[in-house]
Amino acid sequence: MKVIPSCLKCVRCGKTYDLSQVRYNCQCGGTLDLTRDFSGVDGRELKKLWDSRWGAKRGVYASGVWRYKELILDIDDSCIVSRQEGNTRLYPAGKAGEYAGLKNFYLKHEGENPTGSFKDRGMTCGSTAAKFYGARTVACASTGNTSASMASYAAVSGMKSVIFIPEGKIAYGKLAQALAFGGKTLQIRGNFDDAMRLVQEVCRELNIYLLNSINPFRIEGQKAIGFEVLQQLDWQVPDWFVIPGGNLGNNTALSKGLQELYELGIIAKIPRIAVIQAAGSAPLANMWKHKTPFRAVENPETIATAIKIGNPVSWEKSLRGLEWCNGVVEDVTEQEIMDAKAMVDAAGIGAEPASCCSVAGAKKLVEAGVIDPEAQVVGILTGNILKDPDAVIGYHKDELGKLNIRGTYANQPQVIDCTLEAVRQALE
Ligand code: F0G
Repeated sequence: MKVIPSCLKCVRCGKTYDLSQVRYNCQCGGTLDLTRDFSGVDGRELKKLWDSRWGAKRGVYASGVWRYKELILDIDDSCIVSRQEGNTRLYPAGKAGEYAGLKNFYLKHEGENPTGSFKDRGMTCGSTAAKFYGARTVACASTGNTSASMASYAAVSGMKSVIFIPEGKIAYGKLAQALAFGGKTLQIRGNFDDAMRLVQEVCRELNIYLLNSINPFRIEGQKAIGFEVLQQLDWQVPDWFVIPGGNLGNNTALSKGLQELYELGIIAKIPRIAVIQAAGSAPLANMWKHKTPFRAVENPETIATAIKIGNPVSWEKSLRGLEWCNGVVEDVTEQEIMDAKAMVDAAGIGAEPASCCSVAGAKKLVEAGVIDPEAQVVGILTGNILKDPDAVIGYHKDELGKLNIRGTYANQPQVIDCTLEAVRQALE
């Protein structure tokens, strides 16, 4: 397969930059995309090549990101920083499908990545770019998963990592990973949006490589979620993808990847994308529903701390993707998120709260008549159930009253005497 030429292009003004220098933003302030020249590229050949790599046992093609290398990053294999990420399962949704009112509902479990979230797909590509540019230190602001992933990939590739997280506001499993993987962890007094502003300044001033999803290489890696779903469905295109939205990088990546497949003739139908935000942190949903200009949410709140973000950096890119695929944006309440999570968990699949916006959102859109109950729908579960044990225990012990969340489907633990009789009574 011949190399597909690529460059960086501003989403706002269209100015292009070659890849020789580190850049996250255009001179005009707009965000950048990696764009490719597809002239002379045969989509059928690409598909054949990717199918031939399916199931590779070792090496870079054993990764569920680098399997699609031609549309990820043109770089020598020896430079690639990988943990064989991706290769996550696509489950029939079971009880969660019944709950959402869908007959053909699949859940793509990105929580099965090496560090337990979809971030690993972007991080393998971003860390590879960091190495390529000669970075010794990488940094990110994070609600938890990005930092866990970045710290791991930095450890694997011998770079230092610096993490900016909102103090006391990230789930325990994620903080534990950041510390365990050796990330220099700075808990700032402020929220994620404050941390995001700070990390951009830090990277500029201290010559550190930025690994948030504003980094265009992160987006390239995350496109592989959609590629892998399609390959798992033998390239049959579902009607809908439903995906949670926080900083809005992931849905940007999904639509960008699908658009590339469409342009290459690898898929012949455009699936619709529904982005689901938590109601207390929903700047895109507010804009979408009220047809108003974009306005950041000042004090974002939600139990789904992964997406507790008021000023998402990729909102423009996200919108562009939604327009392309005739997508929609919806928001869901705290109760809807946690009840949907109880169903995903009870289905034996399990995921962290933010992930379950996919199921809560699908249910809401079916009820509203936007998604047909017969449609084939793929929900993206973005993070592992073990990331946030406090949310699980709080719900099942029905102790989330202060957040106005009831344990509707609580599975309460019971304390009993250590006797057969007590067990018999408990099981009655
Ligand atoms: N789900 C989970 C589990 C996440 O960790 C995130 C984002 C999202 C959904 C939303 O994805 O930001 O691309 O729209 N977490 C980031 C982090 C912000 O720092 O870990 P998005």
